[in-house]
Amino acid sequence: MLPTHCLLLLVSALFQTTFATYHLVQDYTGDAFWQGFEFFTEADPTDGLVQFQSLEQANATGLAGFIEYWNSSMAVYMGVDTEKVAPEGRASIRVSSSQTFQHGLVIADIAHMPGGVCGSWPAFWMVGENWPNNGEIDIVEGVNDQITNSMTLHTNEGVVVNNGTDFSGDLFTANCDISAPDQAANAGCSIADNSNLTFGTEFNAAGGGVYATEWTSESIKIWFFPRGSFPDDIASSSPDPDVNWGTPNSIFQGSFDMDDHFNNLSIIFDTTFCGQWAGAIWNTTSCASLAPTCEDYVANNPQDFTDVFWAINTLQVFQDNGQGSNVTNTTGAGVTANVRRSQPAGPRSGSQVLPLYS
Ligand SMILES: *[C@@H]1O[C@H](CO)[C@@H](O)[C@H](O)[C@H]1NC(C)=O
Ligand SMILES: *[C@@H]1O[C@H](CO)[C@@H](O)[C@H](O)[C@H]1NC(C)=O
Ligand SMILES: *[C@@H]1O[C@H](CO)[C@@H](O)[C@H](O)[C@H]1NC(C)=O
Ligand SMILES: *[C@@H]1O[C@H](CO)[C@@H](O)[C@H](O)[C@H]1NC(C)=O
Ligand SMILES: *[C@@H]1O[C@H](CO)[C@@H](O)[C@H](O)[C@H]1NC(C)=O
Ligand SMILES: *[C@@H]1O[C@H](CO)[C@@H](O)[C@H](O)[C@H]1NC(C)=O
Ligand SMILES: *[C@@H]1O[C@H](CO)[C@@H](O)[C@H](O)[C@H]1NC(C)=O
Ligand SMILES: *[C@@H]1O[C@H](CO)[C@@H](O)[C@H](O)[C@H]1NC(C)=O
Repeated sequence: MLPTHCLLLLVSALFQTTFATYHLVQDYTGDAFWQGFEFFTEADPTDGLVQFQSLEQANATGLAGFIEYWNSSMAVYMGVDTEKVAPEGRASIRVSSSQTFQHGLVIADIAHMPGGVCGSWPAFWMVGENWPNNGEIDIVEGVNDQITNSMTLHTNEGVVVNNGTDFSGDLFTANCDISAPDQAANAGCSIADNSNLTFGTEFNAAGGGVYATEWTSESIKIWFFPRGSFPDDIASSSPDPDVNWGTPNSIFQGSFDMDDHFNNLSIIFDTTFCGQWAGAIWNTTSCASLAPTCEDYVANNPQDFTDVFWAINTLQVFQDNGQGSNVTNTTGAGVTANVRRSQPAGPRSGSQVLPLYS
């Protein structure tokens, strides 16, 4: 028989090793989003029919700013041009965080996403330098008329993930290596969700939800919680995935060392059009009836892209000191600011758009 105080110590030691203790290391909510993210203005590496805008351009044209959307008082807004015929590429936005992270729990409350529109290819993802050697985690991604979310890792050689029943999605491809011999080029390891609420049209109709990504040395797990079903500890910003989050939508795990393949990742939001995925599969989707090619459609139908925008309520990164976690500032941290608070152009179905500040 152990004395009671020994039992208590034992119990408390067990709890300490079982439960992660996450604390907030970076909050990108509201103005902090524009201070912590940089605008990418080069040609799209995935060959999209897109012109990524600078902060100054996007701010001046209302493609970047804030939107009062549903119940969100000041969601970060990133949209695309919905007025011009654009054979040289539709104006859009790609931003990446100035800070990089080693491990962490990234929690985004997204009210609206650009998905489910023919020609579009939005993504919320994380990536390291020297791709693919430092890894890529695609948290939210899809193209054209896709109705559920694709969660994907892209790496160098030696990363094969387990199939399993401990996550709710369906493992589509298991080899994360971009050059895996028996998979399409750059397919990566990919888990397809099976709920329409996770992406595009139905996600937006339901007011969106929270995507939470937990990255440790052992695994990468992604949960989606529709609006109205957030765990209490997310609502209170003291997240603990182990306690009551339930089955993740995806788990990436296998007999390899995660830290050999995922290092110092920044967070990216972008919306491109056509290119290596949306464009390449255009003819295999229902979108093919709209135009002979994706490029044709995207260039000539600006009015069809009014629903192609991000509205992000909150974005927070948590880390657990016990996990060898790190935050690294890259050059340029905190240089951007003062994005116009404005009502973006175009009708917003289902939203309650109100002018914010002048
Ligand atoms: C994973 O297992 C499921 C259920 O058995 C199966 O349908 C699916 O094809 C498997 N995925 C891979 C990549 O083997
Ligand atoms: C998802 O959407 C498809 C296409 O709109 C529909 O056929 C299907 O019934 C939906 N599934 C659920 C679970 O709502
Ligand atoms: C907005 O808030 C009201 C009242 O809290 C709630 O009933 C409704 O479901 C919310 N709508 C969305 C889309 O979040
Ligand atoms: C990640 O960043 C840390 C801190 O700057 C650095 O010490 C480490 O070498 C980086 N790791 C890789 C693989 O680049
Ligand atoms: C799709 O089909 C059209 C003809 O209907 C053809 O012109 C076009 O090149 C095809 N596109 C792709 C990406 O295969
Ligand atoms: C964290 O960063 C420091 C330098 O800033 C580096 O020495 C250390 O190796 C990093 N740790 C991890 C786990 O990347
Ligand atoms: C990193 O940037 C944040 C602001 O984004 C700042 O508070 C912090 O002091 C910086 N850390 C270092 C080591 O420069
Ligand atoms: C954004 O536009 C507003 C005017 O609407 C201006 O006051 C502000 O300086 C601009 N910010 C940037 C970073 O260009």
